[in-house]
Amino acid sequence: MKREIDPQLVEAAVTAAQNAREQAYAPYSAFRVGSAVVDADGGIHVGCNVENASYGLTNCAERAAVAAATVAGRRDLILCVVVTDTEAPTAPCGACRQVLTECSVSMSILCTTAQRNDVWYDLSDLLPHAFGPDSL
Ligand code: THU
Repeated sequence: MKREIDPQLVEAAVTAAQNAREQAYAPYSAFRVGSAVVDADGGIHVGCNVENASYGLTNCAERAAVAAATVAGRRDLILCVVVTDTEAPTAPCGACRQVLTECSVSMSILCTTAQRNDVWYDLSDLLPHAFGPDSL
């Protein structure tokens, strides 16, 4: 779902995610991902995927972006952009959906590509009936 987010802010977040993708460390999969999350004041926080020779230690771009936002003192996220260089846009993996849900269930998700093949989701549609902070 595409919500009421300033289009200029969306474009700034896409550019930030594209730039973050350039820093991806993905020597094993060669699947480079950039992400940008946006807080309620329009602050943009970025991440890229960081792989490891011990493959299971890989961290996804979206979770890196959430970590960057957290370090900046922001957990009130309204948008998460995911950029890949695939033909079709790539949606966040299950682990990232869970980590994003910890910030807000009503977050918008914009998945896009180098060619700007955009698809919008709402996080609650990607992870329905989520277990979250209010479940405890
Ligand atoms: N990856 C992400 O960064 N985000 C996702 O949502 C899906 C997967 C990364 C992890 C790994 O480095 C590569 O993509 C292939 O799975």
